[in-house]
Amino acid sequence: MGSIETPPSAENGSATHTAMPEGDQKPSGGVGFAPPVNEVTMESEMLKKRKMTMLPLEVGTRVMCRWRDGKYHPVKVIERRKLNLGGVNDYEYYVHYTEFNRRLDEWVKLEQLDLDSVEAVVDEKVEDKVTSLKMTRHQKRKIDETHVEGHEELDAASLREHEEFTKVKNIATIELGRYEIETWYFSPFPPEYNDSLKLYFCEFCLNFMKRKEQLQRHMRKCDLKHPPGDEIYRSGTLSMFEVDGKKNKVYGQNLCYLAKLFLDHKTLYYDVDLFLFYILCECDDRGCHMVGYFSKEKHSEESYNLACILTLPPYQRKGYGKFLIAFSYELSKKEGKVGTPERPLSDLGLLSYRGYWTRVLLDILKKHKGNISIKELSDMTAIKAEDILTTLQSLELIQYRKGQHVICADPKVLDRHLKAAGRGGLEVDVSKLIWTPYKEQG
Ligand code: ACO
Ligand code: ZN
Repeated sequence: MGSIETPPSAENGSATHTAMPEGDQKPSGGVGFAPPVNEVTMESEMLKKRKMTMLPLEVGTRVMCRWRDGKYHPVKVIERRKLNLGGVNDYEYYVHYTEFNRRLDEWVKLEQLDLDSVEAVVDEKVEDKVTSLKMTRHQKRKIDETHVEGHEELDAASLREHEEFTKVKNIATIELGRYEIETWYFSPFPPEYNDSLKLYFCEFCLNFMKRKEQLQRHMRKCDLKHPPGDEIYRSGTLSMFEVDGKKNKVYGQNLCYLAKLFLDHKTLYYDVDLFLFYILCECDDRGCHMVGYFSKEKHSEESYNLACILTLPPYQRKGYGKFLIAFSYELSKKEGKVGTPERPLSDLGLLSYRGYWTRVLLDILKKHKGNISIKELSDMTAIKAEDILTTLQSLELIQYRKGQHVICADPKVLDRHLKAAGRGGLEVDVSKLIWTPYKEQG
């Protein structure tokens, strides 16, 4: 499967871009049709003037913008800021590429924008519901307070509030262990951190600082060499730690601030008490280095077995995400429950889950002789029946006969799907998992 960071098609941007402004259009035929020189100059002067009157561009303007691939793509101006260069029109613009996920939003210079493509100002912030936004925990609580329960979609006002509040990335990069990482989204760090473009994290306790020297001083004092909590899994260099948000509140909150930089529609920094955090680490003689994590509610009425999942960008696409997903289902099996991830899933979350579900289910169907029901598959895998049904439906392996869903698994079709499902990810060796389900103490 190709990278979803890649723009969908080359034509998208460039085709629209080649549409020339009226003034520049060449005559379609005829010989010797050349306007007198001073006419051309006048025309380009007029164009220049027209462009100047557009500046600075308003928030909400739609225009084509040159991206890192060198091609033009449609963007919407989300914010602008004045540069201290002396000119009245010296601004930088924060833009959202309407074809791409919000993690690619960025500050751009005026030169990157094609002013000939400026569309009339539209600034209805709710109009393009960015990646089918759904409720976050915080918003859910807010809506609960106003007695609109059970409504999964955000109402326009909450959506506007979410977008308004999180529209511009506040922290551009972080340093964590040996990595410098570009961030993807806004994260609500305490106000005193909002004037820093870069933050320095202690890779073990996840405390964050504004200056490198502070981190260096901290590292001399910090005696952690792994996440707090219990090591519940070790296989080779891979370890999993279980951290109780109630016992390690500051760690839980730090982790949430960090994770939010890579998670868009999740509000995960409240109530860390109610969660367990499972931290995946690669261990060496310097310590256990965090690769990713998932969080899990201690009690979930909706049978969620995972609230948020993250693989830190330097470790992505190496199979750790599928390891974390597999791990969450192994915990569910030990609890004797079925589970499902909390919704909404992000684009990358959905891809990873689809890949995991497909592989697990097809592996069983391939080996199994005779009929098997969705309930049996669910009991074997701890995957919720609805997720099994949608996965098999999307693979067209389900037929509806006499009021019942029937799995139709032709071995050739299974092989084809398995091939397309990609790599399996890192294996969880269940024999190395030492864990008992959470029980409230006291
Ligand atoms: N482009 C295309 N496909 C991708 C991409 C990508 N950038 N990233 C993941 N995938 C798909 C692929 O099918 C991949 O399998 P493959 O490499 O065999 O083709 C599969 O997803 C998972 O790959 P992994 O290497 O196992 O997963 P990774 O370690 O990259 O972690 C995760 C996946 C956790 C979703 C990661 O992308 C991430 O942290 N994203 C940011 C946070 C996020 O969106 N989390 C999910 C939110 S939903 C929720 O929390 C309930
Ligand atoms: Zn520390």
